[in-house]
Amino acid sequence: MKAVKTLGQFIIEKQADFPYAKGELSRLLRDIGIAAKIVNREVNKAGLADILGEAGTTNVQGECQKKLDVYANEQFITALNSGGECCIVVSEENDEYIYLDSEISKNAKYIVAIDPLDGSSNIDVNVGVGTIFSIFRRKTTEGKATMEDVLQKGTEQVAAGYVIYGSSTMLVYTTGKGVNGFTLDPSIGEFCLSHPDMRVPKDGVIYSINEGYYAHFPDGVKKYIKYCQVEDAKTSRPYTSRYTGSMVADLHRNMIKGGIFIYPVTASAPNGKLRLVYECNPMAFIIEQAGGKASNGYDRILELDVTDLHQRSAIFIGSEHMVAKAEEMMACFS
Ligand code: AHG
Ligand code: MN
Ligand code: MN
Ligand code: MN
Repeated sequence: MKAVKTLGQFIIEKQADFPYAKGELSRLLRDIGIAAKIVNREVNKAGLADILGEAGTTNVQGECQKKLDVYANEQFITALNSGGECCIVVSEENDEYIYLDSEISKNAKYIVAIDPLDGSSNIDVNVGVGTIFSIFRRKTTEGKATMEDVLQKGTEQVAAGYVIYGSSTMLVYTTGKGVNGFTLDPSIGEFCLSHPDMRVPKDGVIYSINEGYYAHFPDGVKKYIKYCQVEDAKTSRPYTSRYTGSMVADLHRNMIKGGIFIYPVTASAPNGKLRLVYECNPMAFIIEQAGGKASNGYDRILELDVTDLHQRSAIFIGSEHMVAKAEEMMACFS
């Protein structure tokens, strides 16, 4: 029988890749793993406990918060505060960034941006949801970290990952040296290495986009959708359409099977819907590390300027050749 390698063991083993590291990033990843297990426990029993439905509050994006959005946010912030390796958290669910105030957190080196619960409209119907996180090193070296520390480009990320609470729960992350996936074994309560060195196929046959908004899409996106639907045996078209409404679930599937996920600008979301700091950048880092591609239709996501915590961006992400093809069609109309 193959020996099991837990997330904790794997992280310690990989610390050797960073000879000058003092173990802080490893401990930070461990803290995120612990919070993910707690959130998983609640997501799993969501139908039993009084945790479905609206919290009765609204976040800075004007979205109605679900009880699980609020719960997951609290769990991650608490875990990061007590872990002591993170000084600031940026969250989808908080207007401003949050200084962590535990004695050990104040001088910590890292900043974490987080989408505590992704796909929250799917909670009530038992469809997979997720968590997305992005980790930066603070730039300033003394005093309180500042906005300069927070607004860093995607290329500056030192680690990023997601958790998918699905038919099984997985944690997938990168520290810039490839991507590894771990499946939660509920019998031992540990994430165990199940998907070493994940690679996104260069081509795929799945496209994921909310086609309900077709009339509001830019012409380049309309052209690409038509391309996906045209019969062509050589390129296995027509492609298959798959869209759950949870970016994490849609991207995780496309990462394994090959495919493209698009959330373009639309008439009602003129800058796109998804948030650059805690949705697009971490996912772009992971997908690139797995050999895929991520852009806003024209430019690489990871190189976009970050000017606002909750800034939005269009995103075209997934299999390299599929994203390149979509970009080609966007270019026809620019
Ligand atoms: P969140 O639940 O964190 O607010 O994110 C929702 C996002 C993303 O997960 C998903 O791909 C997209 O919103 C779905 O939006 P539409 O319903 O407009 O397709
Ligand atoms: Mn939301
Ligand atoms: Mn989200
Ligand atoms: Mn969310």
